[in-house]
Amino acid sequence: MRRKMVAGNWKMHGTGASVDELTKSLKVIDFPVNIDVAVFPPSLYIGKVVEALRGTPVAVGAQNVARQPEQGALTGEIASSQLVDAGCTLVLVGHSERRQVLGESDGELCLKFAAAQQAGLVPVLCIGETLQQREAGETLAVVGQQLTSIIDALGIEVLKQAVIAYEPVWAIGTGLTATPEQAQEVHAAIRAQLAARNAEVAQGARLLYGGSVKAANAADLFSMPDIDGGLIGGASLNADEFGAICRAAGN
Ligand code: 13P
Repeated sequence: MRRKMVAGNWKMHGTGASVDELTKSLKVIDFPVNIDVAVFPPSLYIGKVVEALRGTPVAVGAQNVARQPEQGALTGEIASSQLVDAGCTLVLVGHSERRQVLGESDGELCLKFAAAQQAGLVPVLCIGETLQQREAGETLAVVGQQLTSIIDALGIEVLKQAVIAYEPVWAIGTGLTATPEQAQEVHAAIRAQLAARNAEVAQGARLLYGGSVKAANAADLFSMPDIDGGLIGGASLNADEFGAICRAAGN
């Protein structure tokens, strides 16, 4: 039985004051004990969030990581070893906003994925198709290729210490959620792709769904056999809503 996970990606939202408010509310939530919970604040606030959530079951991750694990001359970047030093245990790799807006390539993401694991962070690899790709019938090919690029470069075994998040780009921040059946179809294909290489990795891999998940649709999504939780954007900025999504995962 895979343990479900609910993770909140705060993206580029918040101020010192609003982050304090949010962590104050998260601290008093009774999270289900049978799931893992994590939040990914903007880097600027990681220290503050780690401090505020100490002693709670909520893990803290970063939204991005440098392509090298060691500190060095790389202006504006943060090394995976520094994220560990700050108290992070996870990091997002390949969010569609970074692939599309910032032009991160599969090759660069392989370096980031490896750098994360070298420092002991668990990468949450985000994959997903655009609306145009879905309409062209390319969904499984696109998602398959994003995953293959990591497997070919680093080997299937690296996915034992990673999480995969399927986030259809057309469902992110749009209010358009994939139906549970649409999401399940892609999750099953991802698991089958892993199983073709290594049955144990496929069985253990946690596959999160992301894209307009809310308390109202979480239970239906999480009831699908290959959906092991969610990566939540907008709704994770509201502690009550996030808590309700976590309860849906715990049931
Ligand atoms: P929304 O939940 O706001 O659609 O964002 C999803 C997402 O991109 C999480 O990483």
